[in-house]
Amino acid sequence: MKLLHLLPALFCAAEAAVPRQKRQDSSPGYGFEHGEPQSSSGKGAPILGGTNPEVDIANQANLGEESTDNGVVPNLKWRFSDSRTRLLPGGWVREQVITDLPVSTDIAAAQQHLQKGAIRELHWHRVAEWGFLYAGRILISAVDADGRYQVSELNPGDVWYFPKGIAHVIQGLDDENEYLLAFDDGDFDKVGTTFMVDDWILHTPLNIVLQNFGVNETVFENLPETDPYILNATISDAAVSAPENEALTGNNSYVYVARDNAAEAVPGGGGTFRVVDSTTFPISTTIAAAFVTLEPGGLRELHWHPNAQEWLYFHAGTARASVFMGGGIARTFDFSAGDTAVFPDNSGHYIVNTSPTETLEWVEIYKSDKVQDISLSQWLALTPSGVVQSVMNVSAEFVAGLKKEKQLLLKGTGDLNASEAFPP
Ligand SMILES: *[C@@H]1O[C@H](CO)[C@@H](O)[C@H](O)[C@H]1NC(C)=O
Ligand SMILES: *[C@@H]1O[C@H](CO)[C@@H](O)[C@H](O)[C@H]1NC(C)=O
Ligand SMILES: *[C@@H]1O[C@H](CO)[C@@H](O)[C@H](O)[C@H]1NC(C)=O
Ligand SMILES: *[C@@H]1O[C@H](CO)[C@@H](O)[C@H](O)[C@H]1NC(C)=O
Ligand SMILES: *[C@@H]1O[C@H](CO)[C@@H](O)[C@H](O)[C@H]1NC(C)=O
Repeated sequence: MKLLHLLPALFCAAEAAVPRQKRQDSSPGYGFEHGEPQSSSGKGAPILGGTNPEVDIANQANLGEESTDNGVVPNLKWRFSDSRTRLLPGGWVREQVITDLPVSTDIAAAQQHLQKGAIRELHWHRVAEWGFLYAGRILISAVDADGRYQVSELNPGDVWYFPKGIAHVIQGLDDENEYLLAFDDGDFDKVGTTFMVDDWILHTPLNIVLQNFGVNETVFENLPETDPYILNATISDAAVSAPENEALTGNNSYVYVARDNAAEAVPGGGGTFRVVDSTTFPISTTIAAAFVTLEPGGLRELHWHPNAQEWLYFHAGTARASVFMGGGIARTFDFSAGDTAVFPDNSGHYIVNTSPTETLEWVEIYKSDKVQDISLSQWLALTPSGVVQSVMNVSAEFVAGLKKEKQLLLKGTGDLNASEAFPP
């Protein structure tokens, strides 16, 4: 009782309590667009307690805007902006791992930045690593169990894949270089997942290290005292001197070169789709990806993935998606650039570009060798029409008009069309 009486004194200025001002424009009233959980039908009421108006306005689905939402759906979204950024000489990294987004058991991810010459230390993982360079140029270098190697320069749009255990290193070549990393295990930070060279040497008896390399201790006098993870360095011209036939090329290559593979325009006409999985990038057998652009107002049609969880990274634009979990349960999420998300295995969903002007760009990733989806429209079009009419109580005309070809990305209703393909 006492506390209740104290509250106004604690939180209000001397004057009477004024409702928080959340309105971003001069139009009257409250509502979702003002960050208030209040529908035009009169349901709901303003928020009087602590809240973040910017987050509320950018996430109107969280305010209950979609009346089709129901039940408890676990959180399916994580913003890289909510991650702790590790600062290192010559770069930074911020991760999304299972403790951030527990539903994402298949995939963990990170954004990583290297300045010119900076090196992501020599290392390997218990899990496969997939990367997508979206800014700058980088050098990747790797060695497999048969002593075959690859040294490649990557440009924006290029993708790499190192199967589990492959030895590798990355160096920045332009002034600023940045990429998305994905790993085929959500628990990426678990002990026993990443192995750094300096860390290993420091934890091996010195006499063994010397015997291993056939040298004396003067060689290792200046070893870093901890594994540097990312370190400043300069770019050298020295190449690997090994026979050409030991190089990993063709179907064995760890690199997918974007300029050698055009993005596909899709039947629905609303954008572009680029599949980077084992059909176009043979080595990538545990991570399948698709790069998607969707024009303003465009819709990624209702579908699900029969083979895997879907993990997403939104690169540009704004989006909304509703995830149907079965059993009458569904929840809608709003997304913007820098968000990651996970749609549970086989859950039904769509993605709509909520911007009237900006193209939406995202990457979807599956722990699988192939990108696969089942389209609701195509399913209905390829089912005996009488059955569809009875089950959905729809007309014969509607069923006859369903397209038998998967549309994937449907056009928006606005004038704008999709911009150039993503990635470049
Ligand atoms: C790393 O190198 C950059 C130049 O590429 C320099 O600006 C920065 O100060 C260096 N950082 C450290 C910790 O040496
Ligand atoms: C250690 O090795 C270096 C280079 O091989 C050599 O110059 C040096 O004499 C050696 N020192 C000892 C103590 O053996
Ligand atoms: C490379 O992989 C593709 C796709 O899996 C396959 O069609 C092609 O035959 C392979 N080429 C070689 C030389 O093995
Ligand atoms: C199907 O639609 C008709 C016409 O609107 C309606 O009368 C009928 O009740 C509906 N049937 C079911 C099972 O919902
Ligand atoms: C985009 O729209 C413009 C103007 O409406 C048109 O001239 C252009 O051909 C369209 N581009 C594509 C790729 O459809």
